[in-house]
Amino acid sequence: GDLFGAQRRNSEGLNLSDPEKLQQLQQELAAMTDQTWQAAPLIAGQQIRGEPHPAYSPHDRHSLVGEVVFSSANDIDQALQQTNCAFNDWRLCPVATRAGYLQKTADLLEQQRLELVVLCIREGGRTVRDALAEVREAVDLCRYYSACAVEQFAQPLRLPGPTGEDNQLFQLGRGVFVCISPWNFPLAIFIGQIAAALVAGNTVIAKPALQTSLTAMACLRLLHKAGVPEQVLQFLPGDGVEIGRQLLSDERVAGVAFTGSFTTAQLINRQLANRHAAMATLIAETGGQNVMIADSSAHQEQLVTDALYSAFNSAGQRCSALRVLFLPTETADSVIARLIGAMRLLRIGSPMDIDTDIGPIIDRRALATLYNHIEKLQREAKLLYQLPVPDELANGCFFPPTLAEIPALSFLDHEVFGPILHIVRYQANELTKVVDAINASGYGLTLGIHSRINANMRYIQQHARVGNIYINRNMIGAVVGVQPFGGMGLSGTGPKAGGPHYLQLFANEQTVTTNL
Ligand code: NAD
Ligand code: ALA
Repeated sequence: GDLFGAQRRNSEGLNLSDPEKLQQLQQELAAMTDQTWQAAPLIAGQQIRGEPHPAYSPHDRHSLVGEVVFSSANDIDQALQQTNCAFNDWRLCPVATRAGYLQKTADLLEQQRLELVVLCIREGGRTVRDALAEVREAVDLCRYYSACAVEQFAQPLRLPGPTGEDNQLFQLGRGVFVCISPWNFPLAIFIGQIAAALVAGNTVIAKPALQTSLTAMACLRLLHKAGVPEQVLQFLPGDGVEIGRQLLSDERVAGVAFTGSFTTAQLINRQLANRHAAMATLIAETGGQNVMIADSSAHQEQLVTDALYSAFNSAGQRCSALRVLFLPTETADSVIARLIGAMRLLRIGSPMDIDTDIGPIIDRRALATLYNHIEKLQREAKLLYQLPVPDELANGCFFPPTLAEIPALSFLDHEVFGPILHIVRYQANELTKVVDAINASGYGLTLGIHSRINANMRYIQQHARVGNIYINRNMIGAVVGVQPFGGMGLSGTGPKAGGPHYLQLFANEQTVTTNL
């Protein structure tokens, strides 16, 4: 079909080079500076009342974005009961109907774009450009999975067999799916998981990241508004550990779609394994220790632009972000000088400001973890440059983008989730050791290569065990249906979000053989 061909198009998004559109966006941003939102458990369409917890902007601790009511044990039980009951009807709901709900959701996301953008900015600290890209990705994921379902799930696959026998392979929902998402893509990942699970025939309990519950609630309401029945999709905001303890030990859970840190994925895996119940599917998309390898043939200007964008866009808070740049000893000093020169031009600022390149870190805890890492770099490695944070940002969680040199990739013992780019020097004749070090890290998410030497590119591509490789360009911002995204090893169980096989992970296959 045209799903994989030249006919398929992603959405257009908002063109900021159009002065009228830009002005409208700026007016909207200004108008919503003081607006507040609410998030609360949503069980069978009923918003549950409870004690509200205030949520403040990461860029300004005095800016209240709204209030979040946490889910109680009773809410969790109700959510399980509702989704479990609803599964029988939902699995028999025609695929075209389920797919239609996603198409409608995509339209609603586009209509609500400005409010969602403001939410991503104010609650998630996303820059204006990141927030716009995020709404666009959310729209594209809904439309893409909708099309995948129609193409792959609507009709059974007819398989050849002996004369007088009919063999059909059906794709069916698994049951109640729990979707657990991170704060760093509060819209796109949140809705991507839910959309895939729903359209494949599962009922869904959505557990958003606590830090971005308000954005998630606004998005979830659109799914219901688009027609997804209230019993089929429940919403449980609150603390992940608390909710996870009860929810994931329940035997009614048939599958979990999780995106977040490896540590949490491991915990969830153990919890699911400890149940005395049918084995649940775990789809885990986790972190990375992402490397870019430049050789001496790399185009230096391009390398610097791509490395900085990959490391510092979204304040380095992308799972795909570049953490370690390997430079050959011959060109390392000149590349480092260029990197520092280019870093000086980056603008750290409020995400409300359209010109900001680097916004805030999500919260104080994440900020403290980054400062701990800087102390380790000061003690055991070398800080090369830090771009100062302007004084006027003192009310927010801002962190100075940092360039540091470390002796080896193994110096990093955990994922550093922020704007810190590490340099490692290597001898040009030791490229194989660089690839060995990447594989030894155990992570395998993204990898960048900057080279004009075919043999080097081929060697790295063939031997590095990573999910997404980008050659002579930046290494973030995978495009739906174009660059299916996801890692291997410690970076996840191997799903490719935005790819043609993603939905299969959410389904059970049933073979029906009829003697004619
Ligand atoms: P996290 O693991 O702390 O939390 C992720 C989600 O899990 C949140 O909703 C959280 O509330 C929930 N959670 C936490 N403990 C839980 C438990 N015991 N049981 C059930 N749920 C629990 O991660 P984060 O800080 O929100 O997100 C950043 C991480 O996500 C980074 O490691 C990043 O690399 C990763 N990430 C991966 C991808 C990918 O596609 N591979 C994409 C984005 C982010
Ligand atoms: N899909 C996101 C990216 O590629 C995580 O940056």
